[in-house]
Amino acid sequence: MATIRVRNTGELIEGEEAVRSFLTANDVYYNHWDVSVIPSHLQDKYDLTDEQKEEILEALKSDIEDLSAERGYVKWDLISLSDANPNLEELLKKFEEVHTHTEDEVRAIAAGSGIFVIKGSNGYFDVILQPGDVISVPEGNPHFFTLTDERKVVAVRLFIDPAGWVAHPFADPSFQKA
Ligand SMILES: [Fe+2]
Repeated sequence: MATIRVRNTGELIEGEEAVRSFLTANDVYYNHWDVSVIPSHLQDKYDLTDEQKEEILEALKSDIEDLSAERGYVKWDLISLSDANPNLEELLKKFEEVHTHTEDEVRAIAAGSGIFVIKGSNGYFDVILQPGDVISVPEGNPHFFTLTDERKVVAVRLFIDPAGWVAHPFADPSFQKA
């Protein structure tokens, strides 16, 4: 279950109802999938082959298809990030810059954990995500994604535009570093 840390006050928001109502007030979609359907030999595994990624996507198929039908996604994939990734530091540096997209950015956490840093109506907040959490940052809303201290995540990404996906840097003097 997700928790939230508000950057300018340090306030922690925990518990399903409080988290959901905070995210809804900030137009952030939030839901849960049952990730226990992922075959046990692939749970908590981060150096995944393409075939194993397909296997995980297949296990999550009904949730993926339901969300796609509801919100218009036409393409999806699975990303895995961990220290097994030789250029992890470089990737994280690139990730940790505030940016926007011309479509919403949806992530379903299949294993590990991650953090979405999002600009809300009262400043930036961190959403710390656990397995089963599904979240979507609205189109055009400044944000970035990064890892927690455990430095590993497996996540499903879903897209509306199959042609690709571009990050537009968002220079923000009001950005609050953690
Ligand atoms: Fe993004």
